[in-house]
Amino acid sequence: HPVDALIRRLPKTELHLHIEGTLEPELMFALAKRNGVALPYADVDALRAAYDFSDLQSFLDLYYAGADVLRTRQDFYDLTWAYLERAQADGIVHTEIFFDPQTHTGRGIPFDVAFGGIRQALDDARSRLGISSRLILSFLRHLSEEDGLATLEVALPHLAGIDGFGLDSSERGHPPSKFQRLFARCRSLGLPCVAHAGEEGPPAYVWEALDLLQVVRIDHGVRSLEDLGLVQRLAEARVPLTVCPLSNVRLKVCPQLAMHPLRQMLQAGLLATVNSDDPAYFGGYLQENFLACRAALDLSADEVVRLVRNGFEAAWLPAAEQARWL
Ligand code: ADE
Ligand code: ZN
Repeated sequence: HPVDALIRRLPKTELHLHIEGTLEPELMFALAKRNGVALPYADVDALRAAYDFSDLQSFLDLYYAGADVLRTRQDFYDLTWAYLERAQADGIVHTEIFFDPQTHTGRGIPFDVAFGGIRQALDDARSRLGISSRLILSFLRHLSEEDGLATLEVALPHLAGIDGFGLDSSERGHPPSKFQRLFARCRSLGLPCVAHAGEEGPPAYVWEALDLLQVVRIDHGVRSLEDLGLVQRLAEARVPLTVCPLSNVRLKVCPQLAMHPLRQMLQAGLLATVNSDDPAYFGGYLQENFLACRAALDLSADEVVRLVRNGFEAAWLPAAEQARWL
């Protein structure tokens, strides 16, 4: 299809990517062997067969269990480098990735082991792959605000290598309002904040992320369409939404890709972008998300170009660099 050729050719951004969610089954087994960790699956195929999720939590349970094979700085480097090579193949020129330090510190892996390996790979990608990046420290919302504040304290010596803060994990029952003090502290450090909101949670959580956490982007936000006042607010303020179509289908946020609201979001004037979330678990990296949406929704060339341009507009790039891509 001619629009698919356009998708492959265009330089792209990725703004919603959990680095722990790029752990492919093959690498999971290789790291398990390297670190002497026993996995409860016979082989890669058995593990892949378990990637049949009923909702966000059923995925998160597997995702946190899988991350247990990540032990050393080299493991985190290898994980991140594998993603960056993949990103390059997909035509990504700028990526803004999340890491979840509490997933690692909570099982005894020091903050600087995870951070150091990821940071080094991102720095190497700039020179070796020509990919620029930002690193977003994301807090786990199923944990307490105190745990988040303690994590922020541990991160402070490494702040020069951190570009922003995020909020992820189990959304229902863990509203943004739970983290007002933490995000006030993050903003006082002069860094931008984002939050997952309106993935499984209601539009009210998107309002809270905007008004109480003062985020500059909403991760997912697909449920914002249920609230016309919210759509107006997001459109007028040009708040970017980092949409992850294949993720939404795999986590049953959306019954099938043909019913995904991506086009409605564009038509409502929202600054929607396309991203892969946890591609090793959801069956596709960025280009696959674009190609699958093109096929299922019959996206036009104009719509694809709009989505790709939105990514550059939503990215945390200096104005001059942004202008180069737009
Ligand atoms: N952590 C990793 N992927 C996530 C998602 N889609 N929603 C919430 N937390 C996550
Ligand atoms: Zn996510």
